[in-house]
Amino acid sequence: MGQDEWAEKIRHQMRFEFERTGPPDDFPALPEIPTERYISGEFFALEEKIWQQSWLLVGREEDWSEPGRYRTADRGGSPLLICRDLDGELRGFFNTCQHRGAPVVREACGLAKRLRCQYHSWTYGLDGELLSVPDERDFRDLDRGSRGLRPVRLETYGGWVFVNEDLDAEPLLSWLGPIAEEWAPLHGESLRAMASRRERVPANWKIVADAFLETYHVKTIHTSTVSKLLDHRGAAMGLFRNGHSRMVTPKWDRVVERQRQVASGIRELPGLHALFAETNPAYSVFPNLITPLDTVGFPFIQFWPMGIAETEVEWTFYGLPTDVPEEQAAWEAYVGVFDQVMGEDFQNLGSMHRSVASGALASIPLNYQERRIYHLHEEIDRRLGRDLIPEAMQVRPVLEPFWESQS
Ligand code: FES
Ligand SMILES: [Fe+2]
Repeated sequence: MGQDEWAEKIRHQMRFEFERTGPPDDFPALPEIPTERYISGEFFALEEKIWQQSWLLVGREEDWSEPGRYRTADRGGSPLLICRDLDGELRGFFNTCQHRGAPVVREACGLAKRLRCQYHSWTYGLDGELLSVPDERDFRDLDRGSRGLRPVRLETYGGWVFVNEDLDAEPLLSWLGPIAEEWAPLHGESLRAMASRRERVPANWKIVADAFLETYHVKTIHTSTVSKLLDHRGAAMGLFRNGHSRMVTPKWDRVVERQRQVASGIRELPGLHALFAETNPAYSVFPNLITPLDTVGFPFIQFWPMGIAETEVEWTFYGLPTDVPEEQAAWEAYVGVFDQVMGEDFQNLGSMHRSVASGALASIPLNYQERRIYHLHEEIDRRLGRDLIPEAMQVRPVLEPFWESQS
């Protein structure tokens, strides 16, 4: 689908959203979401499978700038080690020594020709091969060939590096589905990180993720920021296979007009459809990546569960690289405005976890414009396997007939 066709489809959806007087006739009342899913240790333990069997974004190709560069990744699923081997190829492994299981590297990042375990100095090549074992004479029948580091899947899209512990996972491109094509005009490989932020939020990761999947809260939480920019009544949503989704929210006409007249001081990404200037197209990639796109660039926002009630939120802005001081200053201002918006969301979420955990709310009634949240939760259950989830914590799958894309 070309950009014109894509934009026409979204415009049609936005018109529909503006004109409707209630949910579409065939849209069901969403079954309530049990709050136990956010606070139960049992559910949190089950969720481990999500992090072990999903494609997770762990950085940019340029983060591994030369052969021998390595970084660890251990905020979702198992502790992993990602390196660029001597042939220049990116590789991912479990950061688990095949002797007695110590972490092979302990630093968050570094540069090395070989990876030497800190415990007894078993040494591996950057391709994972076990190269040397001290006092090897004392092992009987040690088969070095079968004691290499255990690999994980690693694939890239637009310069972004994703890993998946599941060796049988579908390829990244196919996993992304329609998003891979819809992001093609961004030319990800030409972009660079402009700024990055991290914040710990004392709330379950799904309480945090849910907050980025709807615009119902915009009028109340973001009164002086997003609310002045976007008209949430026209928010058009697309639900995709694998739990991904899209939400395109129109800007107020006066905002579009003002932005046409006053340049932001940041170069726009070339070749984007006019719809990008008239709306905020936001995407969610299951399980933990959300991005509100803009004409000059965008943040990738990720949610990492550090505990049942603790989430590390990390957001990195991507745009066209610049060494022009005025443009750098404009980026600083842009990021500063976004900081304010994130602060508005965060101040709500920690206290919200505590009030949910009180037990005073058994289940959550979601409305039609909150359906992306239900879509996320349906996918969580599909990934975990419904049979393994205690019945009182399950969500009933109802949204598949409303998926925009089955591919
Ligand atoms: S655990 Fe790594 S060398 Fe012993
Ligand atoms: Fe928000």
